[in-house]
Amino acid sequence: MSIVEKAVDKHRKLDKLTPIKDKRVINDARIGGGPHIPTGAGQVDIELNHEQLAKEGLTPYGETADKIVDEFRRIKRPLLSAAFEEHQEGAERENLVMIASALPAEGKTFTAMNLAMCIALERDRTVLLVDADVAKPHVSRILNVHNEPGLMDLLQDHTIDIGDVLLQTDMPSLKIIPAGQRHRHAAEMLSSQRMEAIAEELATRYSDRIILFDTSPILQTSEAQSLATLMGQLVLVVHAGQTPQRAVNRTLELLGDRKIDIVLNKCRAPASSPYYGGYYGQN
Ligand SMILES: Nc1ncnc2c1ncn2[C@@H]1O[C@H](COP(=O)(O)OP(=O)(O)OP(=O)(O)O)[C@@H](O)[C@H]1O
Ligand SMILES: [Mg+2]
Repeated sequence: MSIVEKAVDKHRKLDKLTPIKDKRVINDARIGGGPHIPTGAGQVDIELNHEQLAKEGLTPYGETADKIVDEFRRIKRPLLSAAFEEHQEGAERENLVMIASALPAEGKTFTAMNLAMCIALERDRTVLLVDADVAKPHVSRILNVHNEPGLMDLLQDHTIDIGDVLLQTDMPSLKIIPAGQRHRHAAEMLSSQRMEAIAEELATRYSDRIILFDTSPILQTSEAQSLATLMGQLVLVVHAGQTPQRAVNRTLELLGDRKIDIVLNKCRAPASSPYYGGYYGQN
C-alpha cells in the first residue's frame, strides 16, 4: 500500500475524505448554487464571470457541480476550524493556507479558486485569494487582473501597502491579490525576508480572514518550498492515479514534518474506494 493510500486508509474513518470528481459538462453553473449578491457598499474591482470561469475549467459545471461544491464544503471545514477554532500549541499563521502540488496541472488553481468561493459563501467569513504563482499567474489572467499591481509589487516596493493591491470581487467576502508585475528575480523575492514579513502582516492584520495562496509546483520551483515554510496550513493537491508515487513521497519529504491535508483530485474511483479521497497527517 502506498503512502497516500495508507494515509487515506488511516483517516477514512475520521470522515476527512476529500474527493473531487472529474466532470466537465458546460453549463453556467454558479458555485454554491446561490444567487449572485452584489456588494452594495464599496467598490467592486472584479466582476466574476462565472460562465468564463466554467469554460476555462476553473469552476465545476453541469449536473455534478453541486456534488463538487459539496466536496469543497468538506474540504474547507477542517481548514476553517484549524484557522479559527482549534488553537494548537506552537501553531502559527493558521489562517494562511497554501494550495500546493508536486507537479503542474494537478489542480491547484482549480482547488484554490473553488475553495475561495466556497469559503466566501460562509456567513461572517472573508477569504483572500493570493495569486502566488507569479510565473504562471492563472488566477490573475482568468480574472483579467494580470496587469494590476499585486504580490510582486508588494515585494519590490516597501512603500506599497497590502491594502493598495487588494481587489474586491463582486462576491462581498472574496478579495484577490493578483500576482503583479513580472520580475526576473521572482523566485528569490518569494523566498526573501520581505515575503516573510508580508506573510506575517497578512496573518496578523487579517487574522479574521482565511488567506489562500495559489502557488507553483513544489518539485519544479524553489519558491514554492520557501512559501510552504511561511504557511500555517498546507493543502497538497494530488492528481489521483496520475502523480507518480515517488513525486508525492519527495514532496512530502520536502515539506517536512508537519500536518498536510491531501486532496485527491480528479478522482474516478467509486466512493467506497480508499483511493477516493484523503488526508495525510504527518506529525
Ligand atoms: N476536479 C477537477 N475536475 C475537472 N477539471 C479539473 C479538476 N481539477 C483540475 N481540473 C482541470 O485540470 C487542469 C489543470 O488544473 P489547474 O490549472 O488547476 O492545475 P494547477 O495545479 O494549478 O496547474 P499549474 O501547476 O500549471 O498551475 C485545468 O484545465 C482544470 O480545469
Ligand atoms: Mg495553477
